[in-house]
Order: sequence, then structure tokens, then C-alpha cells
Amino acid sequence: MSDTNQMPREEGIDHSLSLMREGYMYILNRRHSFNSDIFETRLLGKKAICMVGKEAAEVFYDTEKFKRKDAAPNRAVQTLFGKNGVQALDGQDHKHRKDMFMSIMSPEGIQNLTNITKIQWKTALNKWEQMDKVILYEEVKEIMCRTACQWAGVPLEEEDVKKMTKDLAAMFESPAAVGPNHWLGRNARNNVEKRIGELVDKVRNGELKPPEDTALHRFAWHRDQEGNLLATNTASVEVINILRPIVAIAIFINFTALAVHHYPEEREKLESSDEKYAQMFVQEVRRFYPFFPFVAALVKKDFIWNGYKFEEGTLTLLDLYGTNHDHEIWENPDVFSPDRFAKWEGSPFSFIPQGGGDYFMGHRCAGEWVTIEIMKVSLDFLAKRMEYEIPDQDLSYSLVSIPSIPHSKVVIKNVKRKV
Ligand code: HEM
Repeated sequence: MSDTNQMPREEGIDHSLSLMREGYMYILNRRHSFNSDIFETRLLGKKAICMVGKEAAEVFYDTEKFKRKDAAPNRAVQTLFGKNGVQALDGQDHKHRKDMFMSIMSPEGIQNLTNITKIQWKTALNKWEQMDKVILYEEVKEIMCRTACQWAGVPLEEEDVKKMTKDLAAMFESPAAVGPNHWLGRNARNNVEKRIGELVDKVRNGELKPPEDTALHRFAWHRDQEGNLLATNTASVEVINILRPIVAIAIFINFTALAVHHYPEEREKLESSDEKYAQMFVQEVRRFYPFFPFVAALVKKDFIWNGYKFEEGTLTLLDLYGTNHDHEIWENPDVFSPDRFAKWEGSPFSFIPQGGGDYFMGHRCAGEWVTIEIMKVSLDFLAKRMEYEIPDQDLSYSLVSIPSIPHSKVVIKNVKRKV
């Protein structure tokens, strides 16, 4: 008799199209129909395993069991990630490269970033006061692009801001797109990789001297375990791994504005509360709204977990959105309630909008602290430092399109600074 069980299995030749069609709900829908936290399916022409929940996250982030090399689909490598970046490394190579990222996430580094973000918000507010209407998503991407480049030591001329913003955004707006939008993403990545690669070369030959604590300086001079500098293109990909996701915080900021609008009682609480409540609010925005749907890895070597066999090389997806909406972890997960974070136990595997596990040893997002701080600054502006109207518009958002962005991109009018 076999000592393993057959996983619930989705029949059929390939379900990549269903994944595209159902987006954030693909894994959750099957979780309900199979009544199981794990199931087998076929994606990109191969057997794949999908998992959701805290226990699943614990095993997914066990580096003895899963690896990242070759796990990401090519369309995501060509747009979102780039080649030879930290996301696809394993073991000591990963640890060494990840330390490079974490070295710029010091308290001083993050404080510096927070200061830059505040100044950029203030400058934008001055401009918005003169504007008839503001499309918040587009404007905040620009704020974030300026912030990201300044923090990373990347020189950005005023006339290049729009193009840089557009290119960095195309990288995260396009991975799941089909047709022209997907190609826009590839093209954008090629442009920016070339541009940042030139800057890396200039740093190395002394033509450009960014401050020492910036990503451009650190990554240009980073040495691998053999003592070699990174290939120019790899250093460029890693600097973009700082710039691109900072621009992507615009998505969370857009959802922050939506939450402030949809829950007026929360806005009142925010007006009279301290930073602790702002932190809880931001955490709830990151839990509640859809952003990064799932992460992918390959089984490193055969193992058995909960009676199920995992075979070497099998593509495995961990559902981030689903875990953040898991009834076993969260009470009324589909209710927006910042207060739940007052008593949250803090497990690295239950609340995983930016991945789970350990920052240094695993692939958890290097920019999670940065994201939280930038969101807090932005929340402070949206809830306390400015007045604005939100005219009638389509504020709904999809649970299918990845990444999900409110359809109207949140239009605001009559913006005024609060004294
Ligand atoms: C905008 C909100 C963000 C979201 C939703 C997000 C989400 C994620 C997710 C899901 C991962 C993969 C975790 C895994 O593979 O297990 C990741 C990795 C990563 N993120 Fe973020 N992220 C965000 C912001 C940022 C920021 C602001 C930065 C940098 C300033 C950043 C830098 C990185 C890096 C370098 C990795 C690769 C880490 C590794 O492979 O070890 N992210 N992020």
C-alpha cells in the first residue's frame, strides 16, 4: 500500500488560461471546490501544485524543500524581474546578494527615504492645488519615481521623469498582460536596463559619484563571493529591483486612498490617532486589497508533506492573496478592520502580502519595511494634510486583472492643503 495520498487534482491538459481568467481567485476558487489547502493542476504545460494558508507558507519557505532557480515564468523574467537578479538565486549565492539589499534598509536609510517621500508629497500638493483634477494613481507613480531615483542615487533630469515613471510602471503593469501591453513591458525593461547599466559603468570609472549609502553606489561596487564585481547588466537589474517596486507602492497608496474614502469612520479615527493606528491601518490595506497574487518555486528534491508527495522539479505556487484572506487565520477576512492588527500575533507565515519567512535567509520582500513607511507618509497626507473631493467615478477594482488597480485610478478634485 502507498504511504502517500493523491492530492485533489484538477483534470485537464492545461489551466494557464483559467489562471489568467480568474486571477487572484484562481487558487481560492479551487480551494473551495476541493475543500483542500493544496491541489494539483497543470500550468504552462506541466504538472503544478497550488497551496494556500499558514502551514503551506511554512513549508514553501523551507529552503531545504524549495528552490527559485528557473521557477519564474519567462514572461515575468522579461518584464517584472529581469535576468540574474536576487529572485532566482538559491543558497549562499542568494544570502550574499540579499545581504547587499538589506544593507541599504538600515534605520538611517529608511529615515532618509521617508524624508525624501515627504518632500515629494509636499511638492506634488503644490502642483495639485493648481490642477483641475488629479488622477491619483498616475500622479503618485511620479512622486514615487522621483523618490526612488533620489534615494537610489540615480540622477533624473526633469524632462526624463515622465518616461522613467512610465517605463518602471510598465514592468509591473505588464507581466500578466497579453499582446501589446506585455511587449510594452519588455521594451521598457530593455530601455531602463540599458540606462542604469550606463550609470553603473560611470560609477565604476569615476565619472559619477553617488553618495555611498545609495543603491547605485553599493550595487555598482558590490562583490560576489569570489570577489568579482557584478556583471554590469546584473547590477542594473538589481538597482531596478529597488526603483521599480518603489514606484509600485503607488498601487497600495491608491488602495489607501480608497480605504480612507470608503470607511469615513476610519478617517475620523486616523485624524485623532497616533502612529500606532496609522501602522495598523496600513497593515490592513496590505492584507485586504489585492496586489501580488502568488509566488512560485520549484521542488528542490522529493519529499512528503501532510501525506502528499512533492516530486523534484514540480512548479509550486503559494497563494499570497488567499492566505491573507484565509478564514482559519483571519476573523471575517473580507471585512476591512485595522483593529485586527492590535492583537495580531506577528507570525511571518500568516500575513504575507510581500511574501513570508525570513528576510535574510529567504526570499521575503527586501522592501517590506520601506513599503510600510512610505505608505504611512502617504496616509498622513491623504487623511490629515489635504482636503479634496472624490467625484462620482468607477472606484471598483477587479479580482481578475493582475495587478488590480481601481478602474478610475482614483480621481480627486479641488485639492487644498490643510493648514
Ligand atoms: C509595492 C509593494 C510591494 C509588494 C506587494 C512586494 C511584494 C514582493 C513579493 C511578493 C516578493 C517575493 C517574495 C518571495 O519570492 O517569496 C518580493 C520580493 C522582493 N521585493 Fe518586494 N514588494 C513590494 C515593494 C518592494 C520595495 C519597495 C522594494 C525595494 C525597495 C522591494 C524589493 C524586493 C526585492 C529585492 C525582492 C526579492 C527578494 C528575494 O528574492 O530575496 N519590494 N516583493
